Amino acid sequence: MMQNQGAAGPSCVLEGPLDPCSIIIFGGTGDLATRKLIPALFKLYANQALPEDFLIAGCGRTRLDDTKYKKKAEEALAGLHKGDSGKISDFLALIHYHSVDFDEPASFDSLADWLSDLEEKKGLSGNRLLYFALPPALYARAARLTGSSRLCRPKKDGWIRLVVEKPFGRDLDSARELDEVLHQFFKEDQIFRIDHYLAKETVQNILIFRFANSIFEPLWNRRYVDYIDITAAESIGIGNRGSYYEEAGVLRDMFQNHMMQLLALIAMEPPASFETSMVRREKIKVFQALRHIPLERIKDFLKLGQYGPGLIDGSPVPGYRQESGVKPDSRVPTYASMELYLDNWRWQGVPFYVTSGKRMPQKMTRISIQFKEVPHSMFRNVLGEHIMANRLVIDIAPEEKISLTFQAKVPGPRICLYSVTMDFAYEGPGKAMLLDAYEKVLIDCMQGDQMLFWHQEGVERCWAFLTPILQRIEDPSSPCSLEIYKAGTWGPGFSRHGKASSQHS
Ligand code: BG6
Repeated sequence: MMQNQGAAGPSCVLEGPLDPCSIIIFGGTGDLATRKLIPALFKLYANQALPEDFLIAGCGRTRLDDTKYKKKAEEALAGLHKGDSGKISDFLALIHYHSVDFDEPASFDSLADWLSDLEEKKGLSGNRLLYFALPPALYARAARLTGSSRLCRPKKDGWIRLVVEKPFGRDLDSARELDEVLHQFFKEDQIFRIDHYLAKETVQNILIFRFANSIFEPLWNRRYVDYIDITAAESIGIGNRGSYYEEAGVLRDMFQNHMMQLLALIAMEPPASFETSMVRREKIKVFQALRHIPLERIKDFLKLGQYGPGLIDGSPVPGYRQESGVKPDSRVPTYASMELYLDNWRWQGVPFYVTSGKRMPQKMTRISIQFKEVPHSMFRNVLGEHIMANRLVIDIAPEEKISLTFQAKVPGPRICLYSVTMDFAYEGPGKAMLLDAYEKVLIDCMQGDQMLFWHQEGVERCWAFLTPILQRIEDPSSPCSLEIYKAGTWGPGFSRHGKASSQHS
């Protein structure tokens, strides 16, 4: 265990006061709003991290009055107030609801008028954060409807920002089309393409770890690294998101966004400075270097699986095909493991095994950098040939830590080695400052800071890589193999070089 030296100062917590604003959540009664956004906003509010003056407006097709919406929000906050229910009722007083009809453009103008009245009553200046927590198929329509309504006419010096959830499009063409629609109404600096993985503390720490220390970077390349595993395993299934997941599958749900961002952070070159455009540019270069998977040999590089019935924590759970909203003969993968290569100087020949799956035995988001074995074993006579190579593990969830495994001598008269691990975990004062990923992205949007959001070019580069793969695996005339794995197991895995399986050891 390591000592934390040099405590974080107050400036590490917040970056100054935020502009007063209205936060308008489209899809306000949906899963994302109630499970993630409202709780994140409440936590920020309870920690005095929101602007002094603000309001939250939930919007959606469901007809609800303010009171019923507040009740829904209160349910979403159950368990969060920790004895301070006063804070909850103060927060609920700032929440409102207005229904909109996506087939009725005039309803967006009525929303705008209703909002202006509210803002005026509360003395708000008209800064607006529009959050599309909507089914992805509605993004373009919602952008047209909001963009052409009075909602998007800012008052003098006011700002309008738009947050769009992933997946951004369902392939390269649709991502381009969506972007074109957004740009008819919004400028690039108004568009925040969210990826909540980027806002996770441990994910942000990857850049600090790599580029604020001089000892790791010289080893971070093909000379020393044998392979890299990037895994996001989840024990949950698809829950009540069957109809969304049938359209997405694991490649659109996790790979096109979260997994690609983890890959970029691990593989990118150091930017000249920690500025949004430079950091995003270096990530885009990683996506540019992705070697296309030869489709005629796709099975050598991609394993797909779908969970069947099984046990999670000892309790039976249904298989994917038995989930609501899923076709009984669905071939949508809930698991994928991909072997990737980057065609650039640093990473030539180093495999990246990228894996994500649902209904695995446990939640585990982890990046492992497996170093090469020592070039020559001077201990051959006493130990035999093999000495375990070093491994650096970055745990993102559920644990948040970095560990380095190396060899040490077992105390005693004989020469025997054993692997020891040095850990850094977020503990002590730092732990209290940990922001949930959604809290962080909401703050960044209010600050207009796009560092942790996707740039369209990155989105397109990743789709350019994944679209041929998706076309191949979704081609009904030549189905790719899809292994059904029992819920509660690790999925088909990669036996190539026997390396990726080491991830779970
Ligand atoms: C979301 C996916 O973006 O990320 C979900 O749509 C997935 O399917 C979730 O469960 C995982 O996020 P986290 O933060 O729990 O690892």
